[in-house]
Amino acid sequence: MATRIPEEVIDQVRSSVNIADVIGQYVQLKKSGKNLFGVCPFHDEKTGSFSVNEEKQIFHCFSCGRGGNVFKFFMELENISFPEAVIKVAEDAHIDLPNEYQTKEYVSENSQNSLSGQLINLHEQAANLYHHILKNTQAGQQALEYLYHRGMNDATIDQFGIGFAPEQRLLYPFFDEKKVDYQLLRQTGLFAEDQSGQLHDRFFGRVMFPIKNPNGKVIAFSGRLLSTENTDMPKYLNSPETEIFNKRRTLFNFDVARKSVRQSRRIILFEGFMDVIAATRAGVTCGVASMGTSLTEEQINMMERVTSEIDVCYDGDDAGQNATNRALSIISEQSQKLKLNVVSMPAGIDPDEYIQEYGEDKLAEWLDNAKQTPVAFQMNYLKRNLNVDNEVDQISYLHSILKVIANVPDSLEQDVYLNQLVTQFNLDKQTLQGQLQEIRRQNQSQNTVEVRRDNVRREAQPVIQHDVEILDQTKRAERMLLRLMLHDHDVWYYVKGKENFYFAHESFQTLYLLAQSYFSTHDVYAANEFFDYIDDEKLQRLMIDLEEIEANDEVSMAAVDDYINVIVQKTPLKQLISEKKAQLKEATKFGNKDLEESLTIEVINLMRQQQEQLQSGGK
Ligand code: GTP
Ligand code: MN
Repeated sequence: MATRIPEEVIDQVRSSVNIADVIGQYVQLKKSGKNLFGVCPFHDEKTGSFSVNEEKQIFHCFSCGRGGNVFKFFMELENISFPEAVIKVAEDAHIDLPNEYQTKEYVSENSQNSLSGQLINLHEQAANLYHHILKNTQAGQQALEYLYHRGMNDATIDQFGIGFAPEQRLLYPFFDEKKVDYQLLRQTGLFAEDQSGQLHDRFFGRVMFPIKNPNGKVIAFSGRLLSTENTDMPKYLNSPETEIFNKRRTLFNFDVARKSVRQSRRIILFEGFMDVIAATRAGVTCGVASMGTSLTEEQINMMERVTSEIDVCYDGDDAGQNATNRALSIISEQSQKLKLNVVSMPAGIDPDEYIQEYGEDKLAEWLDNAKQTPVAFQMNYLKRNLNVDNEVDQISYLHSILKVIANVPDSLEQDVYLNQLVTQFNLDKQTLQGQLQEIRRQNQSQNTVEVRRDNVRREAQPVIQHDVEILDQTKRAERMLLRLMLHDHDVWYYVKGKENFYFAHESFQTLYLLAQSYFSTHDVYAANEFFDYIDDEKLQRLMIDLEEIEANDEVSMAAVDDYINVIVQKTPLKQLISEKKAQLKEATKFGNKDLEESLTIEVINLMRQQQEQLQSGGK
């Protein structure tokens, strides 16, 4: 058992990070007013309802209502417990926590309960074993030389945790020795099962590349043959899909890239993970690669959450260009927000080969300088199978490229492309412009139809009212009063001094009591600290919502009195009603019909009274 983390330590961890920096690694934030805004990572949305308040060190989504401090963010994001979240933030801030409540115990204790946790744990062990074999054993010697020969050094090999699975299969014996459960091993995807049910290592004679989830935990492997000559075996072999490995949701190196995005301001999408590794060697750490399949919706979502710009950098050969074209259209169809660039490699060369040829610095330069707009890419791409010296081909090319140019919203950019066509084909610019206008007119009439359809769809959608509950006067008063009390000590003591004051609604009363306990050890109110005093999710949201109230610094006690009066007025009736309701429940339980009937009438009468009060008070 791990020891409970003391409050001082929790406080220290919380105060040593800036919530905006931490969340910024997962959500792309833009400053607007005094808050930072982004797309909420907890539900599907296109608009940015998610805000981070740096001053208060809290986050809040207006749309789904989630909110809290930095710990809560990780609890929500990774579905982990409070202590796990504290440890996670501590790790991020490079705070060494003493061993008794240290990671291993907590995390493994917690994660050992879940199947995913156990599978990840086995993958981490396997990765360590493969890495050890590569680096330290005779069996790994040849593979190590192969990697050196490809230009990798020890730092790169360590950084990516690259390993080697030798011909002689040893992962199964390794786990068997440790008495790992057979059924669990079956679910790792690391073994093939023969007819008798015996497990055999899936990977052997392959250089092993660990595939990690967005949190940097190993969830799968890809293994490369040392030589592709004289074999029908695939060059790369991937783990099958498992409980923890979903190819559609995996991008190689995403765990690293999303952290470097703040500096690099973009993600570079490569074709293979050897390219990602090459880019890393060149100091470019924002590269990712899908798992040898075409880009999925889920992968685009992942990227969209952390960046607004993607550079597509595929091989310079035909296959690579086709893949680039496909990627561009998939991404732009799914997301209007992402800015796209194409980095075309010289024909027939991938970034990994480029580095071999020209060196690491040159690759970094190329990635920065060889950027094209998607239209510039299309201007070449659409020519690929045509002979533009021939008029028929030329005209067909011009028609298709003008369609692309017509969609460019920026007129300056449009002009650049038009001028290129004018020079290249010796054409009259006015004719091109006339053609462009014609295309645009056609597009527009199509668009109007689409827009109309879109409107109908939008109207048909129910208006989702999440927390926009219409507050009655009492709740409004309670909200304001509690907000003022928390932030202003004079108000706090003033209200506390009122005898027999309590909030009309239980939720506010509970928050008030929790605040009392908070203030017994804290002199000053800090929303992100107080948050950890609240366990109940509803109350947490209520509290975060209080922080959205804009209040004047100057509080008049007369206003405070007004709020108190509104609340006190409602309180007795409220209390009475809930008491009677409780009695009614008892009466029903014990089958006391007479009592049940009379209590029901009483409750109804009280509620009617309350309704009347509310209506007259609301005027
Ligand atoms: P190297 O030949 O080692 O330089 O690899 P590469 O990165 O140049 O690979 P390539 O361009 O041939 O392929 C790009 C990506 O496609 C790889 O990173 C793999 O994810 C995937 N891939 C390539 N070959 C295979 C294969 O035989 N099987 C599977 N499953 N995936 C492959
Ligand atoms: Mn290659």
